[in-house]
Formats: sequence, structure tokens, C-alpha cells
Amino acid sequence: MSADPTDGLQRAAERLCQARRVVVFTGAGMSAESGIPTFRDPGGLWERFRPEELATPEAFERDPDRVWAWYQERRRLMEAAPPNAGHLALAAMEPYFDEFTVITQNIDRLHQRAGSRRVLELHGTILANHCHYCGLPYEEELLPEKTAPICPACGGRVRPSVVWFGELLPEAVFTEAEHSIENCDVLLAVGTSGEVYPAAGLVRQAKLFGVTVVEINPKPTELTTVADIVVRESAARALPALLQLLRQYRQAGACSQ
Ligand code: OAD
Repeated sequence: MSADPTDGLQRAAERLCQARRVVVFTGAGMSAESGIPTFRDPGGLWERFRPEELATPEAFERDPDRVWAWYQERRRLMEAAPPNAGHLALAAMEPYFDEFTVITQNIDRLHQRAGSRRVLELHGTILANHCHYCGLPYEEELLPEKTAPICPACGGRVRPSVVWFGELLPEAVFTEAEHSIENCDVLLAVGTSGEVYPAAGLVRQAKLFGVTVVEINPKPTELTTVADIVVRESAARALPALLQLLRQYRQAGACSQ
């Protein structure tokens, strides 16, 4: 496998040229260049915080205000963050294919803000809230910073609509993600360590269905061994470059459609 990103990009663009259905599977590295920290890189969130104190149902039940306040701080950062050139390139690529699905582990909604139309959020979103006990959506616009709101229906505490460790992924979303994976020609795995299941299992599943897997990540990951093509480059550099190559190949009539 070549270490030169140009080589990987060319091979990825050639393969995309022949593809009709594409899935992009994204993780925290996708939004790193928007200024949102990842989890497992040096200095990442899980180096500074303990997930079991902030990202589990038990943590919320023990200290809802602490968990709420931590997520509010992250929400403010995410709302202020702009989609980066990688998000925008993915949105611009979408019309070139019959089906283009973004499956994301990110909770920041940056793909949607960049213009991607079919986005499956495996880990929910920080931009919505619901009652932890009765599930009622909580749609107040003004949210307290430090204390988890009280549910008007049952008196329980309101939480962000994200998936925590130990919780099930939204079933309908996961089923749709599996369907897209099984029916796609190419999968781009962008900015994920591939360490969190069941999400990461989707990439391995893709291999079983004969999908070409392209990894875009500056560093090797758990998924590198399943990748057919590797691009050792950041998302905001690799994806616009890939889009440009794709446009060139299409203009030159080198693509099958
Ligand atoms: P990680 O923090 O585990 O991995 C981030 C990946 O992004 C690493 O492989 C980095 O090398 C790569 N990366 C860093 N900067 C990049 C850039 N500019 N461009 C491309 N790649 C870059 O994040 P995830 O794989 O998303 O779950 O983690 C998966 C889940 O673990 C998250 O959804 C979250 C976390 O705990 C929950 O909170 C349930």
C-alpha cells in the first residue's frame, strides 16, 4: 500500500468513477478541522475526561447536572463550528451518484449544514434533547447551561439526544445504514479510529459484501487492514482533492456515467 496520498487519491477517484452507490462513514476526525476535538487522538476528549463519568446512562442518573453542563459546553462549540472543506466536498459529490449516503458517528450536524441530504446519525445529535425517563422530546429553545431541565410530562430529567456507552443505537437508523452498506459499491471511511462497535462493524460488513473500502485518515487505524485503498491525509485536504479528480475524470469522459 502506498504512503503517497496522491496515489491513494487517484485510485479512489478511479474507483468512484465507476461507482453508482457510495457510502461515506465518518468519525470525529471529519470535524477536527472545524475545530471540534476528537476522542482518542493525543489531547483528545477521552484523554482529558473519563467517558464513564460523562457518557453513560449511569453517569447521568448519578449527576444529571454535571453531564448536562458538559454537553452544553460541547453543543455551543459545535453550533459555532463551521463545516470544513471536507464536509463541503462530500455535499458537492452527492449529485454524481445514484445513491450517496453519509453514515456518521458525529453528533454535530455539520454534514447537514454543509448540504448533505441523506445523513444517518448513528450516535444521535447534540442539537436535540429528550426526557431520559419518558422519552418525550424537549423542544424549548432557551436551554439552561448548568442544570438538566425537568420534563414537563413526567418530572424526569432532560438529556441530550445522543447515544451513550451501554445504550442501543437507534434501530431504524442502524438498519438503514446496514442496507446502504450492503448495497453500495464504494465506502469511504473518513476520520474514524474504528474502535467503537457496533458502528465500526459496518465497515467490516461492507468487505463481506465486496464493497471497495477507502480509508481517509492521517494515521493507521483498526480499519486499515480491511481497506483496499488508503489515503494518509486529513479530511479537509483529501476530500476536496478527491472531488477535483472526480470532476476531471468525468470531464475527460473517463467515468462510466
Ligand atoms: P476517535 O477519536 O476514536 O478517532 C478519530 C480519528 O480521526 C483517528 O483515527 C484520527 O487519526 C483521525 N483524524 C484526526 N484528525 C483528522 C483529520 N483532520 N482528518 C481525518 N482524520 C482525522 O473518533 P471516532 O472514531 O469518531 O462515541 O470515535 C467513535 C466514537 O467514540 C464516537 O462517536 C464517540 C466516541 O466515544 C460516543 O460518544 C458513544
